[in-house]
Amino acid sequence: MYKNRFTALIAALLLLGGCSCPEYRPGAVWTDTDGAVINAHGGGILYDGGRYYWFGEHKVEGTAGNLAQVGVHCYSSTNLYDWQDEGIVLPVEPEGSGSPIEKGCILERPKVIRNARTGQYVMWFHLEPKGAGYTGAMSGVAVSDRPTGPYRFLKAVRPNAGHYPVNALPLHAGPSRAEGMRFDGGSLPEHPDSLNIVGRDLAGGQMARDMTLFVDDDGRAYHIYSSEENSTLHIAELTDDYLSHSGRYARFFVGRFMEAPAIVKHDGRYWMMMSGCTGWAPNAARSAVADSIWGPWTECGNPCSGPLAETTYDSQSTFLFTVAGTDRCIYMGDRWNPENAADGRYVWLPVRFDGERFRVEWHDRWRWEE
Ligand code: GAL
Repeated sequence: MYKNRFTALIAALLLLGGCSCPEYRPGAVWTDTDGAVINAHGGGILYDGGRYYWFGEHKVEGTAGNLAQVGVHCYSSTNLYDWQDEGIVLPVEPEGSGSPIEKGCILERPKVIRNARTGQYVMWFHLEPKGAGYTGAMSGVAVSDRPTGPYRFLKAVRPNAGHYPVNALPLHAGPSRAEGMRFDGGSLPEHPDSLNIVGRDLAGGQMARDMTLFVDDDGRAYHIYSSEENSTLHIAELTDDYLSHSGRYARFFVGRFMEAPAIVKHDGRYWMMMSGCTGWAPNAARSAVADSIWGPWTECGNPCSGPLAETTYDSQSTFLFTVAGTDRCIYMGDRWNPENAADGRYVWLPVRFDGERFRVEWHDRWRWEE
């Protein structure tokens, strides 16, 4: 009798405390299927062949982790909760090798897409060659025949050299009035167009820092990046093989200093989420919607609400994606820790589309209701 009651009590406690079903705990330490802490910051998700692949920056401990010491880490999952370590899929090159991705460079926000024509997996990332801070503002490209790599580094570029944006105001190639000015993420002294930053960078290619990739339903892929000293976002079409820029690109949110772009298509509309420019410190997110990737884009404010809305729940956007076969959307953000980079945390939250707004909702712990 006593034994039966005891068993019933345990069952009741288990029910009350919830089952051992997986769940998200935004900001908590998140371990992989081997029990090791997941190390994939500034990440993105690829869904391919029934599996999800999470690519991100592998960060080491301390401030040294703010530079690329190891490379791009990949994990895979079938349920988006339990992640299996797939290892370092793009290692940095040895110190002194002179490679653009040499150890000690800055390699951030890697994203991978699959090209249906070539069958190749194409990775793009923000790349700052070693020793030059954030002045390089370049994009790196690497490819692989398999999602889990190894990825072969192809090149480091500045996008769209020689091409004017499709929605350019009359701009001229050549000197910029921005010469000698410092841009630390605050407002530019004047409208960026008056500084002629696009024209300054026309020959050598446009600056590209925080970035994401997006493949539309028609197979066209886009590289979306903070450009023009971070003041303006560019949406740039990639070539059919996804390995280069096609030369067709447009400027949006001129002078709004949008960083950390993330994009998702929902019900035929394009939704973007971005941050302001405050480095590793979180700030209030922004969002925007458009009926075409080429705009016009309409800003629709901070998608977060409640106590930590002004700091995006202490995170910065890195990716938005739809769960395969559903219309559920997930926000992926980073809670950076520049003093101990490896201890940066992940903030994953559900996204709700609500008429003309899109909302990211805070939950201490959550899972999809089945
Ligand atoms: C953030 C950016 C990060 C990283 C950081 C460096 O604004 O989103 O990816 O570049 O600045 O301070």
